Amino acid sequence: MDSVPPRPVPTSPRIAVLASGTGTNLQALLDDPFAGRRIALVVSDRAGAVALERARSRGVPAVFLDPASFPGRDAYGTALLALLREHAIGLVVMAGFMRILSARVVREFEGRMLNVHPSLLPAFPGAHAVAEALAWGARVTGVTVHLVDEEVDHGPIVFQEAVEVLPGDDWDALEARVHEVEHRLLPRAVRALAEGRIRVEGRRVEVLADEPAGGAIR
Ligand code: GRF
Repeated sequence: MDSVPPRPVPTSPRIAVLASGTGTNLQALLDDPFAGRRIALVVSDRAGAVALERARSRGVPAVFLDPASFPGRDAYGTALLALLREHAIGLVVMAGFMRILSARVVREFEGRMLNVHPSLLPAFPGAHAVAEALAWGARVTGVTVHLVDEEVDHGPIVFQEAVEVLPGDDWDALEARVHEVEHRLLPRAVRALAEGRIRVEGRRVEVLADEPAGGAIR
């Protein structure tokens, strides 16, 4: 395949959030002073996703894109791309979107799409990371925010933070602490990417320093 350099993140990009579930990460983004005012679209693959309600209650366009209406992943991706273009989206965040995107979508948004995952990747990829960390008896798990590439839970890592697994933890307790970390890291990553402060060299990512304290949030 031709190697085409990724398109740079546009200045002050319009952001789309893809979410399938309760959307607490979407809420953290909506509540963030930087990301909140740039979220221009929320897309879900589940009609009843609370995430759609969260978006609508903020006046953000919220679209249920029904996978059952498309013959497969590629057709779904084509429809998603059309939606993203229609809303002039420059940066995409997968925040609990439980669907693998087509290669076309990933390529179109290479370097401009983030995913949040509830483990320290490459440990426990996939849809059950918190349960698997518990079942494995891991003493430490955590959160990864990474750029999306064509493999699931795989792209270059922007931020990671450990979360200790405590004696007596059940899924609810551990998930709650993982979520707290996600809600802090994901808006930071979105802002860094939107401000062009993320440099990628192969798998390694450098996040350039934030503005000094007191700097204006544009
Ligand atoms: C998060 O734990 C995220 O890491 C994973 O799915 C979960 C979504 O949670 N990919 P929410 O819908 O944002 O509450």
